[in-house]
Amino acid sequence: MSARRRLLRIAHRGASGHCPENTRVAFLRAIESGADMVELDCQRTRDGALVILHDETLERTTNGRGRVRDRTLKELKALDAGSWFASRFAGEEVLTLEQAIEILRGHVELNLEIKGEDAPGRIEIQCVGVVRSLRFFERTVFSSFSAARMRLVRDLADDARIGVLMDADTRWSDGLALAAQLGAEALHPERSLVRAETVAEAHRRGLQVRVWTVNRAEEVESLAAAGVDGIFTDFPERLLRVSAGKHP
Ligand code: G3P
Ligand code: MG
Repeated sequence: MSARRRLLRIAHRGASGHCPENTRVAFLRAIESGADMVELDCQRTRDGALVILHDETLERTTNGRGRVRDRTLKELKALDAGSWFASRFAGEEVLTLEQAIEILRGHVELNLEIKGEDAPGRIEIQCVGVVRSLRFFERTVFSSFSAARMRLVRDLADDARIGVLMDADTRWSDGLALAAQLGAEALHPERSLVRAETVAEAHRRGLQVRVWTVNRAEEVESLAAAGVDGIFTDFPERLLRVSAGKHP
């Protein structure tokens, strides 16, 4: 008989199926919905602030224009990051990493995805520094699609928790190798990479598997049955009734 265990419920950009992604209201809704962890995307502004935005440009999720890295924090703070989603969210601000952590603290863990156009270097140093100084380090998993960024995070912090992001084109063996090199705690694969055999292989190496981004209930069930440990979703309430499959 296989043991049942809890699936980590990860709110992708907050409860971004209901609210404008990566904003205060999306994070609060994720917490209310019973999420265990919130994933967010972090970039650096022209004047060196860390802001929570997914795209490198402002058009899709704010009423601004142009590139995030060309704007100051003050300019980004003047934007509306909610109206694009629905008029009732007018006035939602672009958050800083510091503000996001204060919203999440005491409620959920953080998956901090480092994005942006800057070369690896300053943003990683700042992210590690901010999370450490706000005493949220043990509750934070660092991720990036860039192996160079993750190597830098590891160089900066022996104790950093790392989740290796894998897009649909990543070979499973490459993800495993990078995770071993980095001393990662988990693979974060795109869902098409996940099968019971690949999950079992990761488990044998002591890695958790947290899959993104899954919104359909039937797919949640089949991934849980395949043994995944966590699911990124835009609708965290849809994961409430699902437990994970066989324990490794
Ligand atoms: O971490 C999972 C997911 O967030 C990676 O893709 O584009 O949504 O940041 P993206
Ligand atoms: Mg992301």
